[in-house]
Amino acid sequence: MAVVTGASSGIGEATTRRLAALGMTVVAVARREQRLTALATELPNVVAHVADVTDTDQVDALADRVRREFGACHVLVNNAGVGGGPFRGRDDLDDALRTLDVNTAGPIRCMAAFASLLEESAPSRVVNIGSVAGKLGIGPAGYAASKFALVGFSEAVGLSWASRGVTVCQLNPGFIDTEGFPQSQVKRTPARRIVGRPEDVARAVHEVIRSGRTERTVPSFYRALVVLRHVATPVYRAIASRIPRASGSRD
Ligand SMILES: NC(=O)c1ccc[n+]([C@@H]2O[C@H](COP(=O)([O-])OP(=O)(O)OC[C@H]3O[C@@H](n4cnc5c(N)ncnc54)[C@H](OP(=O)(O)O)[C@@H]3O)[C@@H](O)[C@H]2O)c1
Repeated sequence: MAVVTGASSGIGEATTRRLAALGMTVVAVARREQRLTALATELPNVVAHVADVTDTDQVDALADRVRREFGACHVLVNNAGVGGGPFRGRDDLDDALRTLDVNTAGPIRCMAAFASLLEESAPSRVVNIGSVAGKLGIGPAGYAASKFALVGFSEAVGLSWASRGVTVCQLNPGFIDTEGFPQSQVKRTPARRIVGRPEDVARAVHEVIRSGRTERTVPSFYRALVVLRHVATPVYRAIASRIPRASGSRD
């Protein structure tokens, strides 16, 4: 029994398809009802549930429904997220705070709502979809901050939840071509070869659920940049300044 947030497109939809193909019952969560209904109609073991992860009451109602109808939650994939835009000043404050609310507070709300059910369903897994931008300060600043915070939350709560039988896995994708993150800028450069597909991340989600690995980067070569950032910061910054920026916009 799995719950996937942000299941109406991109990585969340691909993950829902993959887990459903493995025979799991998947509660697919997002705001766009039509998309979820289409998915649930196509895949008999997918159940659509409309909820906004920025609304605590809606998230609590989701957890109540899962407990009532399924009595367990073995996997919670916190994937819902937005890109946000550049942070230039006062005009961008609302956008940055909204990005933090969806990308950081959203997973925290979901983990709070599902904590007891995950423990009762142990061994169980939480997979938090972060980003390479949560390990390297690149891209829209509010977005990077939201994902850095998520990495920290996963790491700290993961230590305390392990003794309850709940493994918290932090999965950090690089550039992936999706509706919300079309990677238009990167695709116009020679770096376009590194743009991956949602299915690549869905495969990695399956792998961390199976193995219980607590952190994974997809594709793994981005890890070299993370190491560089810590051991040779000036060299990393010189390279980072040349990396094409993910705009995070829907254009
Ligand atoms: N694509 C990339 O390059 C990339 C790289 C690193 C990390 N990521 C992360 O991967 C995750 C999925 O992104 P994606 O690339 O698959 O983009 P996407 O296709 O735009 O998917 C985003 C999903 O989040 C849902 N969502 C957004 N706000 C929500 C809210 N308030 N409540 C509930 N659901 C909400 C959207 O559904 P509704 O609009 O229907 O609610 C949609 O299903 C995000 O956390 C993103 O930060 C993406």
